[in-house]
Amino acid sequence: MNFQLTEEQRSVQQAARDFALNDLLPGVIERDTDQKFPSEQVKKMGELGFMGMMTNPKYNGGGMDTISYVLAMEEISKIDASASVCMSVNNSLVCWGLEKFGSEEQKEKYLKPLAAGQIIGAFCLSEPEAGSDATSQRTTAEDKGDYYLLNGTKNWITNGNSASVYIVIAQTDAAKRHKGINALIVEKGMPGFVVGKKEDKMGIRGSDTHSLMFTDVKVPKANRIGEDGFGFTFAMTTLNGGRIGIAAQALGIASGAYEFALKYSKERKAFGKHLSEHQAIQFKLAEMATKIDAARLLVWQAAYLKDQGKDFVKAAAQAKLFASQIAQEVTTEAVQIHGGYGYVKEFHVERLMRDAKITQIYEGTTEIQKLVISRELLR
Ligand code: CAA
Repeated sequence: MNFQLTEEQRSVQQAARDFALNDLLPGVIERDTDQKFPSEQVKKMGELGFMGMMTNPKYNGGGMDTISYVLAMEEISKIDASASVCMSVNNSLVCWGLEKFGSEEQKEKYLKPLAAGQIIGAFCLSEPEAGSDATSQRTTAEDKGDYYLLNGTKNWITNGNSASVYIVIAQTDAAKRHKGINALIVEKGMPGFVVGKKEDKMGIRGSDTHSLMFTDVKVPKANRIGEDGFGFTFAMTTLNGGRIGIAAQALGIASGAYEFALKYSKERKAFGKHLSEHQAIQFKLAEMATKIDAARLLVWQAAYLKDQGKDFVKAAAQAKLFASQIAQEVTTEAVQIHGGYGYVKEFHVERLMRDAKITQIYEGTTEIQKLVISRELLR
């Protein structure tokens, strides 16, 4: 693996950094307080090519590698994890899955506007009674010949209200367990589809997380992704890639908090000298920087393996496990370095500490990552 970024990767990184500082930083505290979805900013992310970065240009994507994607995710997550989760779901769980497994017709109709960022997508797997235990899907997709009749409820769906296109995982034949599950493309506005309540969350408060209700929604057969019964494999394969995006998000939250703390330590004085001149703070900074660098290596390794067409399942789970863990530790230390100022909203680290927690929960909890890693080790 080459640690030297290419000219193109560096320019993507810089573009994401500039966008985060110029467009996301202003108002990020207010959006968090008011739980306001960053609509304008997400629209601009589409115009700048951040919503379908890895998608083939023939479907309006950027045709970039996964390394470029994680570089952009890190920069955007340093400032606004609510915007970056919207970006991550659209790129990894929706566009990537559609490009890899969708029909040509689905790519023309759905992938093109999604990759251009003209519309947003959502990935709907979790249910009130099926989170980590994803094979226990209660949502049903009854085969009615030309269409599926969709019934059920999905929970904690990122982009729940802002999306126009939803990939919904549902059980068609319970007797076949995970082999009876399908992935269906559902459009907002299909009769019987209702967006439910918005969750009032601890962190990523700008992202719109909703429950979704489906009552006798007729979904055309042409909207099924892959063969009959492919839905669970679709969800798992897509999530493998998604976990690289969330690992990069966790890395960004950690490195953002570290950068705020580093800057603060050079400005604030205590006992007659800057905080950065106290060994107690220097040692904290040293540990934070080392953890961040180690997480970045894991994230880049997973992205690199994916780009090489190699098996990246274990690497992605390891990257997410470790990056989300150090995001907790680093953001907590960043608050500690800020002292009382770290506990109030205007210094950003308080928000980043709250945002960090979700990276240990969504797209597979810490415990699920350990399960995936150990299964890979023992296979
Ligand atoms: N990659 C590819 N295939 C996988 C896989 C993986 N990582 N993990 C399991 N599979 C396949 C298995 O090979 C098996 O298929 P075959 O029978 O054809 O071989 C099938 O899936 C079922 O696997 P298991 O028998 O091992 O099923 P299980 O119930 O014991 O375990 C699980 C499955 C790994 C725990 C799975 O349920 C899982 O990953 N759960 C976590 C779900 C999750 O990540 N949810 C996040 C919600 S989405 C989200 O958060 C999005 C958002 O909005 C931000």
